[in-house]
Amino acid sequence: MSEVTLYEKLAAYGKSDYYPYHMPGHKRRARGRMPEGLFDIDITEIEGFDNLHQAQGIILEEQERAARLYGAEESFYLVNGSSCGIMAAISTAVREGGHILMARNCHKSAYYGAYLRNLKQSFLYPEIIEGYDIYDAITAVQVEETLEELECSDEPPVEAVLIVSPTFEGRIADVKAIAEVVHRRGIPLIVDEAHGAHLGLGKGFAPNSCAQGADLVIHSVHKTLLSLTQTALLHVNGNLVDRVRLHRFLKIYQSTSPSYVLMASISEAVRRIETDGERLFAAFYDRWMKMMEALSACRKLTFLPQESGQDIGKLVICVQKTSLSGQQLYDILIEKYHLQAEMPSMSMVLAMFTVGDTEEGFRRMTDALLEIDGQLVRGELGGDAVINGWRGTAGSLLRERPRRALLLGQAWDEPMELCPLSACAGRIAGDFINLYPPGIPIVMPGELFTEELLKNIHHCMEAGLNVQGIADVRGEAYLQVLAGK
Ligand SMILES: Cc1ncc(COP(=O)(O)O)c(C=O)c1O
Repeated sequence: MSEVTLYEKLAAYGKSDYYPYHMPGHKRRARGRMPEGLFDIDITEIEGFDNLHQAQGIILEEQERAARLYGAEESFYLVNGSSCGIMAAISTAVREGGHILMARNCHKSAYYGAYLRNLKQSFLYPEIIEGYDIYDAITAVQVEETLEELECSDEPPVEAVLIVSPTFEGRIADVKAIAEVVHRRGIPLIVDEAHGAHLGLGKGFAPNSCAQGADLVIHSVHKTLLSLTQTALLHVNGNLVDRVRLHRFLKIYQSTSPSYVLMASISEAVRRIETDGERLFAAFYDRWMKMMEALSACRKLTFLPQESGQDIGKLVICVQKTSLSGQQLYDILIEKYHLQAEMPSMSMVLAMFTVGDTEEGFRRMTDALLEIDGQLVRGELGGDAVINGWRGTAGSLLRERPRRALLLGQAWDEPMELCPLSACAGRIAGDFINLYPPGIPIVMPGELFTEELLKNIHHCMEAGLNVQGIADVRGEAYLQVLAGK
């Protein structure tokens, strides 16, 4: 075991008199106006610093440390975010052209993985939480029923199941129960736990998916712990995953020049939790509970309670009982209080808290929301969230289940053309149509447009929702469709 951390070793090297006749080109000195110290530790795979793609030394030790923290059999550093981990997990678990059962609320990277490997996708559609317009977590019953249905159909056997937990908005699934259902079929469960790198690390927090039986688990360390953007981890457990293939796909989807700055940042984040995690998470938990207790006094704004399966740290502020839209509340928080939330939707605002937050961070959000709620109660604050007599709820669009005409991998490679939205019924989608937030595909390439679906898309656009994937041609909405089909 190395005595020094990756960061310490890099920092000492940066101060040494070794002259770099190697990449990167800045030679650890020509940093321009960038912060001092950053370039000192930005090296390539030189003597003594191991190689992410064939880890045998200090990087292997750091990865083993991460595995111990999460109770995983093996962990891998990711420098291209959870995105590359999700693509590697899918590509490993399902053969090219194979069949995957995945939650419809998966991140784009899951769809990109399916495209690259020309997979057949079957979907698990999560329930929608009324009033909040967000997807709930997938349940074990849904997975069981969908697998049974597929087993009784002509579809080829499902080779892996992929779910997201926690979701972007913090909905946590019963991963243990889902893993049991999936493992009964002898296939692996992949959990996109990008938003849950903090799970299982503190008292009061839900367990992480490695401890719940998942075979492949992906964590964005940068999202909910203390490391730099793009840093993530992939964990593997059990014997359902071919580890040789996993190594291969990690090589394919990651840079051949992984950043030592990013890797050192993962190492420091892991060590910080190891040495100080108990105190950090206890303080985070107390501050969160205090904030939620104070916010329970709100009469207009409502919040998803933890007992409903909501992650600690994801504050979902619902505006349904007010005359504000989520966007209007989001703007007030920025303009009046200088509080930058993660994202707004028509029905809610999502604010994120982590162990990195200060007491002041919790207090400022609490005070602002209490003040806004008071103004709403007294009628001093109000917007025109109701547009065309309709609040613009996204629920109807999130409930759409378009029929597939072609696989994503086939459709996205076909020649395309633009077609006026009003004339798209019966045509095959050529590109993704996402509702943002949450940015999940309502329609993906290869799926069929129906009159009903187009009416719904049109309605949501009219109501001011951000429907992505629509071209504006001289004021008219056009959609990308497969040419001549
Ligand atoms: C649910 C989910 N999975 C995966 C990702 C990708 O993570 P990263 O940005 O680390 O690549 C995101 C990004 O927002 C996400 O929301």
